Amino acid sequence: MAYSEQVIDHYENPRNVGKMDAADASVGTGMVGAPACGDVMRLQIKVSESGVIEDAKFKTYGCGSAIASSSLVTEWVKGMTLDQAADLKNTQIADELALPPVKIHCSVLAEDAIKAAIQDYKQKQGK
Ligand code: FES
Ligand code: FES
Repeated sequence: MAYSEQVIDHYENPRNVGKMDAADASVGTGMVGAPACGDVMRLQIKVSESGVIEDAKFKTYGCGSAIASSSLVTEWVKGMTLDQAADLKNTQIADELALPPVKIHCSVLAEDAIKAAIQDYKQKQGK
């Protein structure tokens, strides 16, 4: 199966790979795994006092589509409010990357990861 150009681009030049201090109260961390294949994705966001995502980082142990999905999401969420980021759908990711049906769960992983990161941030804030 061939990867799309968009997947290859993100795979070869992943945006925002890295790690933030998970203990920082302004950082939300989402760690999710795909039961289908065992791949693991960590996605982190740094949120400003006004509730805007200032920065995002990811680390993905997984296939090219999972890496591309998380790379794309970190690009998209920068500058978004938490509500906007929570509204992101895996179908938008899959469309943008032209993922084939067997790779849809890779984009689901990225949606789950951003939602988990938002949840973690809100919990830390006591919301
Ligand atoms: Fe695990 Fe995608 S099946 S890398
Ligand atoms: Fe499992 Fe991509 S995350 S094949």
